[in-house]
Amino acid sequence: MSTKPIGIFDSGIGGTSIFKEIHALLPNENCIYLADSKNAPYGNKSKEHIIKLSIKNTEFLLKKECKLIVVACNTATTNSITYLRQHFHLPFIGIEPAIKPAALKTKTKAVGILATKGTLSSQLFHKTTDLFANGIKVIEQVGEGIVPLIENGQLETKEMYHLLESYINPMLEENIDYLVLGCTHYPYLIPILKKMLPEHISIIDSGLAVAKQTQYILAKNNLLNTSKDEPKISLHSNGKVDVLNSILEGKFSTEYLDF
Ligand code: DGL
Repeated sequence: MSTKPIGIFDSGIGGTSIFKEIHALLPNENCIYLADSKNAPYGNKSKEHIIKLSIKNTEFLLKKECKLIVVACNTATTNSITYLRQHFHLPFIGIEPAIKPAALKTKTKAVGILATKGTLSSQLFHKTTDLFANGIKVIEQVGEGIVPLIENGQLETKEMYHLLESYINPMLEENIDYLVLGCTHYPYLIPILKKMLPEHISIIDSGLAVAKQTQYILAKNNLLNTSKDEPKISLHSNGKVDVLNSILEGKFSTEYLDF
């Protein structure tokens, strides 16, 4: 058993969608969340740059004595988790677009995936797609411009609707029945997407699966926190803390930190 915190990082506030799943499933756990909003978006950066930023985030969380790190960012996972696992000796949990369940469930044999350029061009993503989506049409779409809007707190805006329409319409023309959200910022778009998508299209994201994997790896390593103390939850951002607060509906303590 360990009372040390779980560390979670993302390029910004999107990974809070994962943090919420983890906190709901593992309410005893202390958590430290790092939003590297100053450097968002990661999606257009080179692999080398993403690795550098992921190392910086990991080192920060290690100073806070985290027992496990969740890379709550598809872009950082697909580009840097192999490096992190090789160079730091603690368990890492990553997140990848949920292509497998979508490919297994689709009836129209066409699925859409919305993710960043960094994720869609990564080796790990191609490996997963080749492995599980054989014979399925995968319509890949880079969500250019979405993350900066979310980071600026502009969710329900005309600009967001226009962007999403331009990304989703070509998928509808291909008759998709599953839309995979391949970026941890995108679950915050679900209310908007539900208004835009026909009812028979299901949206899939990997948040709950990541929380379950976190629970499994903590249990396997005897690291679950079984103490009855009130958990300590702290969320840090080097960007706009007011936007972080509003996405968390003011439910958790947040702090600006220039890391
Ligand atoms: N939340 C990140 C992801 O899951 C956003 C990527 C970005 O910063 O561009 O990919």
